[in-house]
Amino acid sequence: MTLSRMTHCAVRSLWGQSSLLALVLLTCVQAQTPLPQTAVPTLPPPSGLVTAQPIGDSIFPALGQAGLDVLKYDLDLTVDRPGASELRGTVVLTVTATKSLPVLSLDFLGPPVLDLRWNGLLVPYRHDGTAGKLIIGPPQPLLPGTRAEVAVSFAGQVGVRPDPDLPLNVGWQAVPAEGERVGANFTLSEPDGTRTFLPVNDHPSDPATFTTRITVPAGYTAAASGVQRLEKVAPNGNRTFVFEQAQPIPTYALAIHVNRFERVDSPAVPVGVGGTEVLRRDYFPAGIAADTRDAYASTEGVLQVLADWFGPFPFSAYGSAIVTPRVPALETATLSTMPVASSAVRVLVHETAHQWFGDRVTLADWSEVWLNEGLATYAELLWAQAQGETGSEIVQGWYARAGRNQTRPLVATTERQLFDTTAYIRGALALHAVRVTVDDAAFRAYLRGWVSEFQDRPVTTADLLTYTHSRLGARAEAALRLWVESPDLPPMPER
Ligand code: TRP
Ligand code: ZN
Repeated sequence: MTLSRMTHCAVRSLWGQSSLLALVLLTCVQAQTPLPQTAVPTLPPPSGLVTAQPIGDSIFPALGQAGLDVLKYDLDLTVDRPGASELRGTVVLTVTATKSLPVLSLDFLGPPVLDLRWNGLLVPYRHDGTAGKLIIGPPQPLLPGTRAEVAVSFAGQVGVRPDPDLPLNVGWQAVPAEGERVGANFTLSEPDGTRTFLPVNDHPSDPATFTTRITVPAGYTAAASGVQRLEKVAPNGNRTFVFEQAQPIPTYALAIHVNRFERVDSPAVPVGVGGTEVLRRDYFPAGIAADTRDAYASTEGVLQVLADWFGPFPFSAYGSAIVTPRVPALETATLSTMPVASSAVRVLVHETAHQWFGDRVTLADWSEVWLNEGLATYAELLWAQAQGETGSEIVQGWYARAGRNQTRPLVATTERQLFDTTAYIRGALALHAVRVTVDDAAFRAYLRGWVSEFQDRPVTTADLLTYTHSRLGARAEAALRLWVESPDLPPMPER
């Protein structure tokens, strides 16, 4: 779709709201791009400049927009009927660019757009729900070093995005009421489900901060990534909760939950940056079995053990929100999403490790996802060893499992490979292969350094190889490279 067609439709649809406004819009659009010849014969032909270029992800080539940098998402959402596949609200994106952008192209499979403003002005836009793109024509191109606020209001049915290989749709989850259980909603968005309910630059290479304000009916609790700032009750009983996620996170890591929850606060844990306290809260749905909570009693210990290996916990709060459907657990930032059926310490350790690897240190490309899964799986061994186990059964179990499954080099080439045994198990073994070349003190400094050096720039396997060489030398790099590149399973790593 060229912009000339797009602006034509959008200007027409905005026409009539105010003649002054229409005039302003038309002027802007003419200055920027021509309308079709039939409409305005004197204008030059459409320019090729105006089609937006996606980020160029090797697995998901259509996602995101190259050159767009979303700094912040400010959400004001309302869930009128928990358990339904619908949502309404406004998101204000604070955006900047790394190259001049004549149009903005957001990923959005979600509800119909009701209103869209660029720095407060109505501007032309086109929402293509099938392609999953919301194309916006700003008054002037967005230039590097400048910022704009883009406000999008929407309401209605959320979009549908089937998971690449799991039997579920990613994005906004609707859990209908059943028996004693009330309806609930939550997000489960990896890799690209956030676009089912929010207009976003839906790629981990563009992490952003979030303010999430959610209004829910009386009796419901909302939870989201970040620190809760406010909870207020309206005269009709509706409750509004506000959360501040002050460190940037990838879009898929945004947690939002609406449920009849019991929120349990625990003592803060001083493992944050510079010894600051990490707030502790968990959310348990009403009516779940009491022993489901047992695993979460280990959260403080998990934070301590992992912070010892990985460095300070990267966010200001941590805990879990428990959900009832049988879905995989997900490392949503500051608030892991934990199914009742996965409420085990080992899963908790895995999701907690992702807070560093995936949520804080983010991926440059989805093909690199073993960097997340390998490190999170490796954390399960570090935890077991901190409990006094030798860990050798775990490593041998991994090796046997990797041997039973098809293997491949670590960087994925297809969607189906993203979360396969290779990403998790061979990924973990690759880190073990590095570890056995050095002593544990050096390995600890290596893991900590990876986080501190790369937390603000999306990572690739090439980065890890270079980093490994610079930190631990040629032998460690060669060991890692074999596990990264070999088409076959390399020999069991041994000291
Ligand atoms: N990253 C998750 C984990 O290993 C797994 C996962 C991938 C997932 N895609 C998902 C979980 C979609 C839920 C939904 O912890
Ligand atoms: Zn994982």
